Amino acid sequence: MAILHLSLISTITCSQRKATRASQDSVKTQKTLIATDSVSSFRLCPCGRRHFIGAMPLLPLAPSYAASSSTEDLKRLRPRKPDWYDELFAWSMDTSMEQYEKEISSYKMKLFNNLVGKAEKVLEIGVGTGPNFKYYSNIPNVSVLGVDPNAKMESYARKSAAQAGLKPEYFSFIHAVAEAIPLEDSSVHAVVGTLVLCSVADVTRTLNEIKRVLRPGGVYLFIEHVAGEDGSFLRLVQNVLDPLQQVVADGCHLTRCTGDYILEARFNGGADINKASLSSLAYLSSHVYGVAYN
Ligand SMILES: C[S@@+](CC[C@H](N)C(=O)[O-])C[C@H]1O[C@@H](n2cnc3c(N)ncnc32)[C@H](O)[C@@H]1O
Repeated sequence: MAILHLSLISTITCSQRKATRASQDSVKTQKTLIATDSVSSFRLCPCGRRHFIGAMPLLPLAPSYAASSSTEDLKRLRPRKPDWYDELFAWSMDTSMEQYEKEISSYKMKLFNNLVGKAEKVLEIGVGTGPNFKYYSNIPNVSVLGVDPNAKMESYARKSAAQAGLKPEYFSFIHAVAEAIPLEDSSVHAVVGTLVLCSVADVTRTLNEIKRVLRPGGVYLFIEHVAGEDGSFLRLVQNVLDPLQQVVADGCHLTRCTGDYILEARFNGGADINKASLSSLAYLSSHVYGVAYN
């Protein structure tokens, strides 16, 4: 009964978001193109530019990653969980994603190509066990900052970084939430997030933080699992399982319309948002992936 009740709430919330977006679309002046790629894609870009980041010097990072306000936000937005829970979740991410990573690898290769020659300082939100490090290996002089509130992810991420040939001094693990990133404005060339907006407490705030820390012309690469189509069997299953998923998978929501959030964040240079369906994740099969341009 409680599960059904919560499921209804999440359905209504998503439909309401769509209604809000529709009314925003009617007044927006930005150019929106609808194209087709795998399932469908939309491109929102007011200027039609693609922003290339040269090998420019970086602005200094905040002096301390553990800035007090971000520590407060970490405690507030992601209340501390028992060590065994964090360790179990980190271990399960490390051991259960092999099939998925195989299936998503062609998407990731294409996406991460956007960084080659354009990004040296990369921030990865929700870096987790570091499954993306291997895609940084052909980016010259890359250094990676990984934000994650689960401290147990650090050792796995460091191992992945080493396996990918990233020297320890080129990877920093930052114990924080993506809603309050302890970095200065315009301090990174690129932000990467895979399977993380499902888990943050506040998606809009996270996207605003991404825009804040990105340099002008910087890019945000994303791959996110999202709610299935309204009225589909998949969506019904997601509605039923959503409350349980949040408990067992560290706050992961099954019914988020993450593509809508990214569109509504209105990145300066627009966003390419594509849809894909991935069989290896069962009821998490619906995905959006793409690039947003700051
Ligand atoms: C499903 S895992 C994905 C990890 C990795 N990005 C991947 O693709 O495998 C979600 C990650 O987001 C992290 N996370 C949860 N809440 C977060 C928040 N508010 N800010 C940043 N990361 C968060 C979790 O600790 C976890 O590492």
